[in-house]
Amino acid sequence: MGKFYIDGGKRLEGSLRVQGGKNAVLPILAATVLNGDISYIKDCPKILDVSTMINILKSIGCSVKWEGKTLIIDSSTVSSYEVPENLVREMRSSIIFLGSVLGKYKKVIISYPGGCPLGPRPIDLHLKALKQLGVKIKEEHGFIICEASKLTGAKIHLDFPSVGATENIMLAAVLAEGKTVIYNAAKEPEIKDLQDFLNGMGAKVSGASTDIITIEGVKSLHKVEHKVIPDRIVAGTYLIAAAITKGEVKLTNVEPNHIQAIISKLKEVGCKIHEEKNSVYLKAPKNLKSVDIVRTQPYPGFPTDMQAQMMSLLTMTKGTSIITETVFESRYKHVEELMRMGADITLEGRTAIIKGGLDLTGTTVYAKDLRGGAALIIAGLVAKGTTIVEGAKHIERGYERIDKDLNLLGASIRKEN
Ligand code: UD1
Repeated sequence: MGKFYIDGGKRLEGSLRVQGGKNAVLPILAATVLNGDISYIKDCPKILDVSTMINILKSIGCSVKWEGKTLIIDSSTVSSYEVPENLVREMRSSIIFLGSVLGKYKKVIISYPGGCPLGPRPIDLHLKALKQLGVKIKEEHGFIICEASKLTGAKIHLDFPSVGATENIMLAAVLAEGKTVIYNAAKEPEIKDLQDFLNGMGAKVSGASTDIITIEGVKSLHKVEHKVIPDRIVAGTYLIAAAITKGEVKLTNVEPNHIQAIISKLKEVGCKIHEEKNSVYLKAPKNLKSVDIVRTQPYPGFPTDMQAQMMSLLTMTKGTSIITETVFESRYKHVEELMRMGADITLEGRTAIIKGGLDLTGTTVYAKDLRGGAALIIAGLVAKGTTIVEGAKHIERGYERIDKDLNLLGASIRKEN
C-alpha cells in the first residue's frame, strides 16, 4: 500500500476547486441501474470508491466509460442481480445496490456487509423497510437474498434518520406500485442530490431535505444527465488543513449552506470566514482557541465524517476541547495515531478530551479509515519534521488528489507506492 510523506511547517495559501461529492455520487451510481438506459454523471470524482462502484456496475452487465470528468453508464444490458461478495467487502456502502437492483429486477443477492473500522454498521433498518414494501428476505451463509413478486408503496417510519436506509428505500420505491412515504428520513444534502437525479430520469420524489420524503411510483424511467453536488467533507477537510497551518485559502465549488456546522466551529476557533454563492474564504488567526464541545450528529449537525479532522485541529488550539461521537460507536481509530505524534487525548466511551497546544512531531502513522487518514495528513502539516502516513489507499477512497491539492496551496507532500 502507498504512503504519504508530509514535511510539516508550511503555511497553506491560495485557491482551490473542490471535487464532486463522494457520498452524493455513490448512491447515484447505484441508481443508474433503474432507468435501463444511459446516465451521464458530470463532475464525478475519480476516487477508489467510484472505481469499486464501476466494477460492481460492470459485473452486473452495465457498460461504463469516462469522458473527461463525466461518467457514462449504460444499464440497458444488465444481466445479473448478484452483487459480487469481494466488492461488497471492499466498500460497505455498496449495500446501496440492494434498493436499486431490487427496485428494477425485483430480486437481488448481496453479501452481508458486516462490520467496518467505524464499529458495527447494521442494516436492520434497511431490511425492515424493504419488508414493508413487500420484499421477502432470506439471510443464508452471509448472503441476503431478496425477492418480491411486486413492490408496493408503504408508509415507513425510520427509528433513526439513517442515510443509507433512506437512500435504499427511495431506490426501491421509485418503480413500486403506489405511494411510499418515509418519516424521520435523513436530511443530508446527498439525499436531495439523489432525489434530483431520480427526478431527472422521470421519478416522482419530493420532500428531500425535510424529514418526510414522498415517492410516487412510476412505470418507467429514461435517460438522464446530472451534475454531482460539491463534496462538503472534502471542503471541510481543506478548510481545517488551512486553519491548522494558520493559513488563508479560498475554496471554489463549495455550497456554503452544506457546511454551516463546520464553519461555525471554525469561527469558534477564531477563523475569519467569508461565504459567497459557490465559494468560501478562510483566514486563520495566529492563536487558535479551543471549543467547548463538538457533538457529531445527523445533518444539519456536525458531520461524523469531519470528527477526525476536527480533532487534529483541536490538538493545536490553546486549552481543552471535547468531542462526542454520537453516530458511530468506535470511530476513534485515529486517536492512538495522533497520540503517537505527541497529542494529549483521553477517550472516555464516546467522548474524547483533547488537551491542545502541545507540539506534534512527525513519525510513521497508519491510516485505518478514510477520514481518520485525512486527519493524520492534517496533523502532519504542522508536525515537526516528516510524518509518514501509511495506508494511502484508505484516503484515496474519498480524496481525488489530496497530495496535489494541498501542494497547490503550499504544502510539501509526496506519495510513494
Ligand atoms: C453515515 C453518515 C453519513 C455519511 C456516511 C459515510 C450520519 C447519520 N450518517 O451514513 O452522513 O455520509 O456515514 O461515512 O451521520 N444504523 C442502524 N441500523 C441501520 C442503519 C444504521 O442501527 O439499519 C445506525 C448505525 O449503526 C449508526 C447510525 O445508524 O449508528 C448511522 O447510520 P447511517 O446514516 O445509516 O450510516 P450511513 O448511511 O453509513
